[in-house]
Amino acid sequence: MILAPETFQLPRSMSAEAPSGDALYMDIYWFSLVFLVLITGAMLYFVVKYRRKKGVRPERTRDLTKLEIFWTITPLIFLVIIFHVSFETYVKNATAAEGAMEIRVRGKKWSWEFEYPNGSREAKELTLPVNKPVKFILSSDDVIHSFFVREFRVKRDAVPGQYSYIAVTPTELGDAQIFCAEFCGTSHSDMLGTVHVVTDEQFRKHLDEMDKMPEVCGDTGKEQCTPALWGRTLFVKNGCPTCHSVDGSKGNAPSLKGVFGTLQPLTQGPDVMADENYVRESILRPQAKIVKGFTNTQMPLFVFKDPQTDALIAYVKSLK
Ligand code: CUA
Repeated sequence: MILAPETFQLPRSMSAEAPSGDALYMDIYWFSLVFLVLITGAMLYFVVKYRRKKGVRPERTRDLTKLEIFWTITPLIFLVIIFHVSFETYVKNATAAEGAMEIRVRGKKWSWEFEYPNGSREAKELTLPVNKPVKFILSSDDVIHSFFVREFRVKRDAVPGQYSYIAVTPTELGDAQIFCAEFCGTSHSDMLGTVHVVTDEQFRKHLDEMDKMPEVCGDTGKEQCTPALWGRTLFVKNGCPTCHSVDGSKGNAPSLKGVFGTLQPLTQGPDVMADENYVRESILRPQAKIVKGFTNTQMPLFVFKDPQTDALIAYVKSLK
């Protein structure tokens, strides 16, 4: 299939759904443009032709019922046709093919989390095999977000308390940006991600390796990975720095600097030693023990596999 490159009006297209939607968009665009030119042209023509002239008395205009019915009914017919074709295209594109791979998409302030059929999760980054139909099951942990990938021509709200669905079949290898298209709070504009469309083989390899420590990680993605460095990479990727500082400054949540190995004052019960078990529990069940002074914010739920949790603990440990 030949896919259109980026144009002035439309971004690059990377999905099987894009061409029909784009064609419809261009049809409506040209249709509207023709009528814009015709109607504006006629208006200008009549303004000039029937302008006020000396010695010419204006005639009284009469009702022309037939003409009025004509110009009311004709656009209505066009609108019904446009609606019908658009709705049909939308339903066809939004319905997942039989046997589509189901990916769960969770919006949370302010990050996207993706869950693959094998249960592995990752934040902000989504890898999809090329030419395989995918069904996204969207949900939200807090407020309304909107999952938007321009290159796929896919946009759907993620609403708390319910599931919504959208389907796509990526047809081109490469990366595309994921946006949140619904204003959801102060860091709405940071709620970005990347979708990587890869070959089937690369996809399977990615699934196999996702939960293991990669060889390289860090800010540049090229540093030799250690548990603490991988932990920091996961920490940043999951949006933790939005609330947790690592330099001791107070945010919406306790700073993690120097926390490990010290006594933490809790809202309820005696102080608790911040050891491996405490950090693990705070990551996986954030509401279990709440540090004094932080009852107003609720940390969203994160699910990490053991190697990732261990890496995060190693990172917290390293914050002296
Ligand atoms: Cu999430 Cu805007």
